[in-house]
Amino acid sequence: MTLRPRDPTHAALLELARELAARAGALQRERYETGLSIETKSASIDLVTEVDRACERLIVDGIRRARPDDVILAEEGLGGDGANAGVRWIVDPLDGTTNFAHGFPRFCVSIGVEVEGRRTVGVVHDPLLGERFEAVRDEGAWLGARRLRVSRETEFGRALVATGFAYDVHVSEDDNLEAFRRVVKRARGIRRDGSAALDLCYVAAGRLDGYWEPKLKPWDVAAGLLLVEEAGGRTSDFAGGAAPASGVEVVATNGALHGALLEAIGGSGRADMGPA
Ligand code: IPD
Ligand code: CA
Ligand code: CA
Repeated sequence: MTLRPRDPTHAALLELARELAARAGALQRERYETGLSIETKSASIDLVTEVDRACERLIVDGIRRARPDDVILAEEGLGGDGANAGVRWIVDPLDGTTNFAHGFPRFCVSIGVEVEGRRTVGVVHDPLLGERFEAVRDEGAWLGARRLRVSRETEFGRALVATGFAYDVHVSEDDNLEAFRRVVKRARGIRRDGSAALDLCYVAAGRLDGYWEPKLKPWDVAAGLLLVEEAGGRTSDFAGGAAPASGVEVVATNGALHGALLEAIGGSGRADMGPA
């Protein structure tokens, strides 16, 4: 079995997202560890490579050719935007750029599609492991032929969770470090692997029990949040309200551990509420 959406529009969107994610992933594989031109963006630790841009060009051109009326929001700015479109594509052409630039094998392509403002299709492709995570609203979350389900863990002390830090971490006091310290003291283990999209997919797949991160962007979470929701997990902001599409603060868990993770990170709208 694989994911075959009943709605023909959703099926067409999924097919295009799959095809473009596969082509961008192939480019990442080809260029991985081959020597890159690397530039910085908002801070000295915020990188962009020629491969981020080439992948974005490929994906944006592919969407425009197939669906000229759709709106595209893409990280490196080739898409333009327009929030009220019927169909909006939200593209992170390479999530995990720092990893990619350092030859650390954890990065992916992430493509999310909103229909009438609702997360509807998500594809995250890890080109090195050859794993394609995908979800369609009300049709489940899938890893290739396998339907995904979040973990059943109910004890925070046995949980493996992940997080990340924003590119302003050198200069901002709102830096997620106090929340990190609190979770390290309570959970079984914590990971900072450098790809928010894959972190969310790993929650969907039950490889992680939870994940939180402040200061994300829409393209980091557009596909991954749908994966978690369709795998039976829970997503929210830091106060337990609906997870914002902006990604500005995201908590995603197997559901059973949501309250425990919210509480551990501070739980009332900010990650850092001071020492436990
Ligand atoms: C970053 C990664 C990282 C997260 C950062 C993101 P990029 O995306 O997802 O895990 O901690 O907040 O900006 O820059 O590699 O696309
Ligand atoms: Ca990203
Ligand atoms: Ca990126």
